[in-house]
Amino acid sequence: MDRIKKLYAYLSRCDTFADIGCDHGYCARYMLKNNLCERAIISDISEKCLSKAERLLANYISCGRCVSVCCNGLKKIDHSVDLTLIAGMGGEEIVSILESAFIPKKFVLQPMRNISYVREYLLSHGVEITSDEVFESGGKYYFVISGEISGKASTYTPAQVKFGKGDIGGVLGDYLKTEIAKKKSYLERELNSATRARITDEINYIERFLSGEIK
Ligand SMILES: C[S@@+](CC[C@H](N)C(=O)[O-])C[C@H]1O[C@@H](n2cnc3c(N)ncnc32)[C@H](O)[C@@H]1O
Repeated sequence: MDRIKKLYAYLSRCDTFADIGCDHGYCARYMLKNNLCERAIISDISEKCLSKAERLLANYISCGRCVSVCCNGLKKIDHSVDLTLIAGMGGEEIVSILESAFIPKKFVLQPMRNISYVREYLLSHGVEITSDEVFESGGKYYFVISGEISGKASTYTPAQVKFGKGDIGGVLGDYLKTEIAKKKSYLERELNSATRARITDEINYIERFLSGEIK
């Protein structure tokens, strides 16, 4: 729940809000309850998951402010939606949703893993990434990318594609330090020389990024 509460901070006022893979429906409730959107679309590929959100948002559904759609990704979602959230799935799943439908005009994406895959996809499609941050919740780190189709394509260095554009003096730095510690602990195990060399290279790369040597 703490992760979801932190995610709320990335959701801005809009007319129509869509939560893809909504499961519980907390994000749509936050938007509707706080009058941050006029209308919300809750959507999930699983009827069972969607029914949780339908129960939570029954009052908003009955008054016509919330619409429930059971579908794969954005397949039945209109392009005109103002703000689309896709959170809590793997980066590959998020890219597959975008690939098989469209990139929403304004979005917040919170992949649980493979964030660099999501960045690569967005950047190769000329999207403007308006914020790319990491937050900590319950001892875990979560990346959140906000962006829009504005005609202004963002540019990232290879290291930024890997790690984002967060502040290395802040949470991103903390995250990278934990990654280094994790990788160093792997080196204490018995490893073949290729794996040892790969992990050592990864540690060096992160250290050089943290020191500012690699931008
Ligand atoms: C771990 S839950 C995350 C729920 C919520 N978005 C969050 O961040 O807490 C993942 C949800 O995504 C749904 N899901 C997975 N793949 C999907 C897809 N291709 N299209 C729509 N929903 C999907 C699952 O059914 C599940 O309800």
